[in-house]
Amino acid sequence: MRDSRRPISVLGSTGSIGRQTLDVVRAYPDRFRIVALAAYGNVALLAEQAREFAPELVVCTGDAAGVSEQLQELLPEARRGEESLTLAATHPEAEIVVAATSGLVGVLPTLAAIRAGKTIALANKETLVMAGHLVMPEARRAGVTIVPIDSEHSALWQCLQGEQREQVRRLIITASGGPLRQMPVDQMATVTVEQALAHPTWRMGPKVTIDSATLMNKGLEVMEAHWLFDMPYEQISVVVHPQSIIHSMVEFVDDSIKMQASLPSMHLPIQYALSYPERLDRAGTRLAHELRWPEVARLDFEDVDFSRFPCPKLAVEAGRRGGTAPAALVGADEAAVALFLGGHIKLTDIAEALARVVESHDFTAEPSLEDVLETSRWAQEEVLRLFGQPVPERITKRYGES
Ligand SMILES: NC(=O)c1ccc[n+]([C@@H]2O[C@H](COP(=O)([O-])OP(=O)(O)OC[C@H]3O[C@@H](n4cnc5c(N)ncnc54)[C@H](OP(=O)(O)O)[C@@H]3O)[C@@H](O)[C@H]2O)c1
Repeated sequence: MRDSRRPISVLGSTGSIGRQTLDVVRAYPDRFRIVALAAYGNVALLAEQAREFAPELVVCTGDAAGVSEQLQELLPEARRGEESLTLAATHPEAEIVVAATSGLVGVLPTLAAIRAGKTIALANKETLVMAGHLVMPEARRAGVTIVPIDSEHSALWQCLQGEQREQVRRLIITASGGPLRQMPVDQMATVTVEQALAHPTWRMGPKVTIDSATLMNKGLEVMEAHWLFDMPYEQISVVVHPQSIIHSMVEFVDDSIKMQASLPSMHLPIQYALSYPERLDRAGTRLAHELRWPEVARLDFEDVDFSRFPCPKLAVEAGRRGGTAPAALVGADEAAVALFLGGHIKLTDIAEALARVVESHDFTAEPSLEDVLETSRWAQEEVLRLFGQPVPERITKRYGES
C-alpha cells in the first residue's frame, strides 16, 4: 500500500528548529515521515534521531574525530562532508525540505532542493538575505513554494492568505526587543555573553539569539520579508512588542490590519509550514499551547531605538543597496557574533564591524552565487583581521564555502 505520509528531509536536525521539527513529526506519525537528516557535529543526537525516525539517509558534515565510526554504526546510507548536505536536500523521496542549518551553509543545498522541485520550509534567514535575487526567481521557474518557518514570516504568510498583494499597504514585523531592550546605552559595551543569550521569550540557537540581542535579527527579517513577499523596503516596518503574542501584522489599503497571534512557540509555525495549506488539530498533542486572552495581561508596542540598536538600520541599508552588500553584512555578522560568543569582542563591536566591512567591500551590483559566497567568506575573514584574530578552524570549516 502507498505511504501517504509527507516525506521530509531536515537540514540542521540537531539544532533548535531541527529538534522542534522532529517534535512535530513525532506528534503526527500518520501525517509525516523523515527520509533524510543532516547536521554538523552533534553525532550523538543525530544517531539518536536516526534510530528513532529511521531515515533513508543521514548526513554529518563535521569532521570531528570518531564521526565516521559512529556514522557507520548508524546506517549504511550515512554520508560525511559538506557537499553531502545537497544529497539530503535533493533526496528523491523528499517532498518537503526543512532548511534549518544556521549560517551561510544553507544557501547551496536550498538552491539545489528548489531545482529538484522540493517544497522548502525555510528557517535559515541567510539564504534569502544574501541570495534572494537568485533564489526567488529560481523558485518561480521551478514552480516551488517557499513556506516560511520564522514566526514573523509565518504570521505574515498566514495574514496574506486569500488577500490581494496590491491591496497590502504595509507589512509590520514585531520584535520582542530581546534581552537588552531596556539596557541604558552606556552599559551596552559591557554586556556579557550570558546576558545577551538570556532571551526573555524565545529559546533559540546561539547565533540567532545574539542577533536578537543586537536586533540584527529584525534587520535580517525585514530583508527576508522583502524577498519572500516581493515587497519594497518602504512598505515594511518593525515595531517592538515585548510579549511576543502578536507575531506580525499586515496593514491593508482600507486601514484594516490583520494580525496573527499565539503564545510564543516555534512548534506552531513549523507545523503550519509542514502541513500547509492545511491546519492540523493540536488538541491532544503535547504541542498544544492554547492562548487564553484573560491571561494575557497586556500587549505593549514601542518604536525601535536605533541609537542603542544600530544593526537593523545597517541591515536595511545593505538590503536597499542590494548586490553583494547583504552578503558582506551576513558574513561580517557571522564572524562578529562568533567572536563575541568566544569572548574576544564587545557586543557593541558587532555593529561597528558590520558598518566597516560592508562599506569597504568590493561591491558588485548583480552578483552570481559564487560572488555572494566569496563576498561573505571575505567579510568573515575581514572581521577576524579587524580584531587581530586568526581565522579559527571551526568558522572556516563550518561556515566557509564548501
Ligand atoms: N531557533 C529559532 O527559534 C529560529 C527562529 C527563526 C529562524 N531561525 C533560523 O533558523 C536557522 C537555524 O537556527 P537554530 O536556532 O535552529 O540554530 P542552531 O540551534 O544553532 O542549529 C543549527 C543546526 O545547523 C546545523 N549545522 C550548522 N552548520 C552546519 C553545516 N555546515 N552542515 C550541516 N549542518 C550544520 C547544526 O548541526 P550541529 O548541531 O550538529 O552542530 C544544527 O543542527 C538559523 O538560520 C536561524 O536564524 C531560528
